[in-house]
Amino acid sequence: MATSSRAAPDIDALRCQVVPSARPVAGLAEDARRGLLHRPRSLPSKYFYDERGSRLFDAICRVPEYYPTRTEGVLLARHAAAIIAQARPEHILELGSGASRKTRHLLAACEGGRRTPTYWPFDVCEEMLLAAGAELSGRYDWLTINPLLGDYCGGLRHLPAPDGRRLFVFLGGTIGNFERAEAVALLRELHAIMAPGDRLLLGADRVKDPAVLRAAYNDAQGVTAEFNRNLLHVLNRRLDADFVVEAFRHEAVYREDRERIEMYLVSARPQTVRLRALGECIGLAEGERILTEISCKFTPDSLESLLGAARMRVDAHYAPPDGYFSLVLARPD
Ligand code: SAH
Ligand code: AVI
Repeated sequence: MATSSRAAPDIDALRCQVVPSARPVAGLAEDARRGLLHRPRSLPSKYFYDERGSRLFDAICRVPEYYPTRTEGVLLARHAAAIIAQARPEHILELGSGASRKTRHLLAACEGGRRTPTYWPFDVCEEMLLAAGAELSGRYDWLTINPLLGDYCGGLRHLPAPDGRRLFVFLGGTIGNFERAEAVALLRELHAIMAPGDRLLLGADRVKDPAVLRAAYNDAQGVTAEFNRNLLHVLNRRLDADFVVEAFRHEAVYREDRERIEMYLVSARPQTVRLRALGECIGLAEGERILTEISCKFTPDSLESLLGAARMRVDAHYAPPDGYFSLVLARPD
């Protein structure tokens, strides 16, 4: 096997394959109608991730308060060889792959174990898929990368199904961005396309000291605030809206009763916003909130119960001594 090289990343050599939705999914216009025109106001968090939003998320991963990326990275560095030895993947298919930075631990373990799986990053952000793919192909000259562009909320039935054992990867704690019923539904869809030899590697953030959680979503540099407000730029551009971005402040609270972070955009003054593409106006009172994201935190029991509800059985559960994050290797039951 060739060793990893450092050729200049070539973004033009990659092309994304579009994964069609398996069922109708609402677009931004419909989600905005449903979520913004009535109280309580909310929007799905997937709309954060235009090119700028994806870059901002990547920047969040580097702020000192945001421990999940670092913690999961350390777990992967420590256990990737064991994970790859157990899963023996011929394909690695990653949901919500983003910058694919932590995936490098898995790829390095493949290299060390003389395995050459094909990598299928699946994401809603084309620019990030291409940039991450170019970066990885510059590092691993043996690696075939097939970027998949699509929305996993539309179902997984139309994902390519190459022959050979697959390791599905869902990192970062992104499973926490779903309500429990939605998370179970997504994992069940995954279960439905998994063969008995396939495995799932799932990262999930854990319940912990609320002060640590609050700090992670209220970093001192304001990167998370900028990421949150970026949603308003997305709405302005895509719905021809006129949100005054500076007239909204970021709020992230930890709901101990629900074991989740809730992130809001709060109207700093009374204002009227036009959504021209919808032919609608919304009036926001001072202090009125738009829910933009939930980020559920798990205990080992709640995580295993979630997987159990999707008929997945846990083979290995990796966590650091402080219990800040869990990485679970599971198989379809
Ligand atoms: N896995 C990476 C990135 C997590 S951020 C990490 O652990 O750092 C969440 C990622 O999921 C983003 O890259 C975003 O573009 C992607 N994403 C969010 N909603 C999605 C959806 N509905 N379908 C596909 N990708 C989605
Ligand atoms: C992608 N997801 C797991 C992140 C989280 O922690 O819920 C998104 C995020 N939102 C604010 N900071 C990070």
